[in-house]
Order: sequence, then C-alpha cells, then structure tokens
Amino acid sequence: MIPKTMEQALNKQVNREFYSAYLYLSMSSYFETTNLKGFAKWMRIQAKEEQSHALKIYDYLIARGGRVNLLDIEAPKAKWSSAGKVFEEVYAHEQKVTAMINGLVDLAVREKDHASFEMLQWFIKEQVEEEKNASEILAEITSIGDIPGPLFFLDHKLEKRE
Ligand code: FEO
Repeated sequence: MIPKTMEQALNKQVNREFYSAYLYLSMSSYFETTNLKGFAKWMRIQAKEEQSHALKIYDYLIARGGRVNLLDIEAPKAKWSSAGKVFEEVYAHEQKVTAMINGLVDLAVREKDHASFEMLQWFIKEQVEEEKNASEILAEITSIGDIPGPLFFLDHKLEKRE
C-alpha cells in the first residue's frame, strides 16, 4: 500500500502534469495565430507528452492500491509577445517541474517508499531531456533574435517532430 502522504503528493503531480499539457496546448494555439505551424505542432506533441506523464503517475497510483483524485486544472495564459517569450516560459516551467519531481523523490526517501522512488527515476531522467530541449530551442531563438526569416527556418525544423 502506498503511504498516504505519497498518494496525496502524486495526485498533485498528476494535476501539474495535466496543467503542463494545458499550458503547452495554449502555447500551440498561440503559435497557430502567428502562423508558426511548426512551433504549433511541436507544442501540440509536447502537450500530448505531458498527458502521458500524468497518466503514468495515474496508472502507478492504481497499481499501488492508491486513490486517484482529479483536481481542478488551472487555466493557462493564452497570449505571449514572441516565440522567444514562449520558450523562456517553457524553460522556466520545466525547471519548476524538475524541482517538483526532486521534492517527490525526497518524500519517497523520507517515507522509505522504494517503489515510488524507483518509479520517479524515470521522471528524473525525463526532466533532464525536457530542460535540454527547452533550453536548446530558446538558445536558437535568442541567436536568431526573433527575426521572421530565420524564425521560419526554425519553424520548418520543429515541424519535423513526430
Ligand atoms: Fe512532464 Fe515537461 O514534464
């Protein structure tokens, strides 16, 4: 049986992962309005990935005999001023998520909950990837300087994400 504190904390994380999906879907819709279709596609795939993160924890809670409590999902922001501003936010957001995952690992250690500790290792690795992707795209946009021509070039590159 999963410790109650862990069950509660993982339910919060399910909510945060769904919030991430909402946030990235909102960013995707913003990119649709700026005609950056590749960026929009990249974000939509990212939103789907966040849903899968939420469901990974959801399935784990069930496997451990825990209760799933789906909480209200906060409405995300809907407007940004540039692609650079979006990716600054993505990078900052992913760093926050990393801190949340680290907090969950700390809790698993305190609770001597080895199964949760082991499950969370997947997220530890995933966050390395998430931060890397966001910071690399942000660095590319920064070097371009949000100039339409080169930005469309990056847009084509991002459109290749499957
Ligand atoms: Fe679920 Fe982007 O981390």
